[in-house]
Amino acid sequence: MYLQRRNRILRQSPAIRALVAETILSPDDFIVPLFIVEGKDVKEEISTMPGYYRLSLDQLAREVKELWSLGLKSILLFVKVPDELKDNKGTEAVNPDGLMQRAIKTAKNSCPDMVVMTDVALDPFSSYGHDGIVEGHDIVNDATVDVLAAMSVSHAIAGADIVAPSDMMDGRIGAIREALEESNFTKTGIMAYSAKYASCFYGPFRDALDSAPGFGDKKTYQMNYANRIEAIKETLMDVEEGADIVMVKPGLAYLDILREVKDAVTVPVSVYNISGEYSMIKAAAKAGFLDEDKAILETLTAFKRAGADLIATYFAKDAVRLIG
Ligand code: PBG
Repeated sequence: MYLQRRNRILRQSPAIRALVAETILSPDDFIVPLFIVEGKDVKEEISTMPGYYRLSLDQLAREVKELWSLGLKSILLFVKVPDELKDNKGTEAVNPDGLMQRAIKTAKNSCPDMVVMTDVALDPFSSYGHDGIVEGHDIVNDATVDVLAAMSVSHAIAGADIVAPSDMMDGRIGAIREALEESNFTKTGIMAYSAKYASCFYGPFRDALDSAPGFGDKKTYQMNYANRIEAIKETLMDVEEGADIVMVKPGLAYLDILREVKDAVTVPVSVYNISGEYSMIKAAAKAGFLDEDKAILETLTAFKRAGADLIATYFAKDAVRLIG
């Protein structure tokens, strides 16, 4: 048999495969989500996310230093708010001395070079567990956007480098940009969760923050997973309104969307390798069904191949160890 082209030539050894690899993961690719709680010396494992923890501020200071020493350069902060501080207005979300604001300061003090990103949405602060203000059974848009803009400014005041609105209200990126400009925060970035779908895969995260919706679901603001073109519409609008980075979320079941968004915009695109995706690998590995390390690398590489410039992932530390 004579063949003009033999594709296996470039697969015959690890060295050749490495030379022609199209997608290379780097510690620079990752955003590390961190869950923060009140208390001292708290490092509590999240039952639905084995191997992942809620941290008190002292532990956060330690963790941020460790992440930096591993080459990880950005964190994304989420806070678990005690029930008694939750209401229907997001009061605690804009408290200058709230847990989020203290977490931002703690992280920045511990490691000034670390890029500190913050979640902007009302669900951890909402007595209803919704991302916005509730009236009857409605999640009201415009009043929510006002709070999100104030919340973003309060994060900027505390020292956040990038605010990350994950709420999917209409017009929030423009409103946040305007509020930051008005307050002279001309260096604060916005990473917009632009194409965020209503997904069952957020379940473990809602356990982590005790933020599951008290009634109904999030389908009047998060997108229908049946839709593709809508993701482009949402993303282009966010860019128009001033997003510096856009995001597709969840990740694994949405690689097609990630590629299309990447091809449609000229800003960096991030993807969120969400809690359910983390827990699926953990559970399968624990049951002996999958090799955890290999599953992590294959998953993260798929995100980058699909077009992600940045990957928010609970596997960031594992990834750094594995790509060594
Ligand atoms: C809330 C928010 C969610 C996540 C990030 N921000 C959950 C939700 O929308 O209900 C999910 C992250 C994950 O599952 O890892 N605004």
